[in-house]
Amino acid sequence: MKKRWIGLFCGCMLAGSVFAQQPWFDEKDLTLTGAYYYPEHWDESQWERDLKRMHDLGFEFTHFAEFAWAQLEPREGVYDFAWLDRAVELAAKYDLKVVMCTSTATPPVWLSRKYPEILLKSEDGTVLDHGARQHASFASPVYRRLAYRMIEELARHYGNDSRIIGWQLDNEPTVQFDYNPAAEKGFREFLREKYHDDINELNDAWGTAFWSEVYSSFDEINLPKTAQMFMNHHQILDYRRFAAKQTNDFLNEQCLLIKKYAKNQWVTTNYIPDYDKGHIGGSKDLDFVSYTRYMVYGDDEGVGRTGFRVGNPLRIAMANDFFRPVKGTYGVMELQPGQVNWGTINPQPLPGAVRLWLWSVFAGGSDFVCTYRYRQPLYGTEQYHYGIVGTDGVTVTPGGEEYAKFIEEIRLLRGKADSKDVKPESYLKRRTAILWNPENYWSIDRQKQNVTWDTFRHVDKYYRPLKAYGAPVDFISEEKDFSEYPVMIAPAYQLADKELVDRWTEYVENGGNLVLTCRTAQKDRFGRLPEAPFGSMISGLTGNKMEFYDLLLPKYSGTVKMDGQTCSWNTWGEILCPDQGNEVWATYAQDFYEGKPAVTFRRLGKGTVTYVGVDSSDGQLERMVLDKLYARLGIDVMDLPYGVTLEYRNGFGIVLNYGDKPYHFSLPQNAEAVIGTPDINTADVFVFRLK
Ligand code: GAL
Repeated sequence: MKKRWIGLFCGCMLAGSVFAQQPWFDEKDLTLTGAYYYPEHWDESQWERDLKRMHDLGFEFTHFAEFAWAQLEPREGVYDFAWLDRAVELAAKYDLKVVMCTSTATPPVWLSRKYPEILLKSEDGTVLDHGARQHASFASPVYRRLAYRMIEELARHYGNDSRIIGWQLDNEPTVQFDYNPAAEKGFREFLREKYHDDINELNDAWGTAFWSEVYSSFDEINLPKTAQMFMNHHQILDYRRFAAKQTNDFLNEQCLLIKKYAKNQWVTTNYIPDYDKGHIGGSKDLDFVSYTRYMVYGDDEGVGRTGFRVGNPLRIAMANDFFRPVKGTYGVMELQPGQVNWGTINPQPLPGAVRLWLWSVFAGGSDFVCTYRYRQPLYGTEQYHYGIVGTDGVTVTPGGEEYAKFIEEIRLLRGKADSKDVKPESYLKRRTAILWNPENYWSIDRQKQNVTWDTFRHVDKYYRPLKAYGAPVDFISEEKDFSEYPVMIAPAYQLADKELVDRWTEYVENGGNLVLTCRTAQKDRFGRLPEAPFGSMISGLTGNKMEFYDLLLPKYSGTVKMDGQTCSWNTWGEILCPDQGNEVWATYAQDFYEGKPAVTFRRLGKGTVTYVGVDSSDGQLERMVLDKLYARLGIDVMDLPYGVTLEYRNGFGIVLNYGDKPYHFSLPQNAEAVIGTPDINTADVFVFRLK
């Protein structure tokens, strides 16, 4: 194992990249800013005015044809790109590069009427219809054939056009839980291949001896009805893998078609950060992954009374930390410029919040950010959705002004920037990975054992302290090299196998510091319990046996004691039986197992293993465990209040305040302010540069 991080810890500002340089964006630009425009929504006489104004506000690219299949192929096999050519021409006239889209989210009506078999079918039997969007089944061979034909025409037309910088596939393509007969057929084929055409292998994997579920042929297998409470969960696990693969294959095939013609244009798509769906990063030929993010739509996840206008302080941070590691760079395709139309409540963002989100995207290391959308629509589903300009098409909205300000500020930074990888040593030392595989989420979700279990809340109890430390965090998959991270946390990593446990062990023996949490490695990859003592797959690694686990009623919290402090818990608690060499960091303080261990720590080889067998009620215990661990490891951490985050890129430090009161940042001695002041108001930003 290469201990790459050790070599990095010298000097003050270091090149911390572990990723290959991407060829698509010029480092000197720092980030490009763009806006969605739908020429087909507006009278052609207004296009030039709009694109010119977009340029005058500072935007550098626009985004076309996302939902325009009906205009691009008005009749089957008859294509019309002339109107789009004129729009591209005008964009170029005003120095706006174009992101071209494949418009597969909106098939034209002729397609749905002539080939109704393309329509997506829900689990309850509802067949979707024309008149909205995203109603076509990715499993349908007819839909795919017609989509690919249209995409190939488009790619042939624009693939060699230097005015087009890149491509966005589909729109927010997610995993479809589709009960269309084509999906069922596809599922059977997927299973045949996975289980080598041997139905007994499948029966074994799914444990079908239970409740007479046994199959004698693949043709007897239907898509699982997840609404049936006790449906075989091994089958659901495979179904979710299949469903993710369908989305991944559909996008990958689109990407490869475009790449036949486009040699100098990137290809990505605008994923919703659905961390639990298992598709992000699965279309391997995409050049990088991008995301869409909305911050204010009626939830109450912000800080304090005005928090609902500012948004969850870590929502963009987490998306950055999840998307960036996939290919080493990322962009943000959609960020709201003001009120949206689809929330439970659609409030005005707090003045400053739009700019704060833009800086949050930048802080994570993105290469571009784009807003949905330039103009507020006058008709259709999204009439109440703000744009950069309002309903008259010319008046710049407050959010539009904040975009213009951000763009101006980025231009100021361009003259002062270092390479993206230049980051201070103290920051790189805190680098931490969170190992994530959505299959663990799927598996636990069908067998929570306690209604209060929430996998995302569990992960958040570790993520929050890391961001309070000012740590750079990467969510990584098992495909990554663990050795790049001084600390790696695998929260509730339920499905495992010997290979993974061996890799964890090797990581630790070579100097890695592994944190495993409750529910980890209890099942194999099919979701079965190994025929061995419960939880023993990782006993050799953690040095613990598990006596049993307990789950409590919400009104009767349990308590755990650590270093004289008491923390409460309810959802999941493992009663551990550690080897002599293990340190016990926390014990249960109540019930018939009072005094027994809940958290242990051990050294192994050159590294350490921390095992947290309990999920606390409010994250206090998890914070204390990480505090103690980082102190033991000699990793210097910050103590930022919730709502304030700090990241570094290009030699700049970026401090963001999502809190409800001003925050004073102690500027390091060797630093100079670039944007703002160290007294940072709510929804404001401070950017400094280390000299
Ligand atoms: C996104 C979607 C966009 C637009 C937007 C409205 O989820 O990708 O096409 O509908 O929401 O806020």
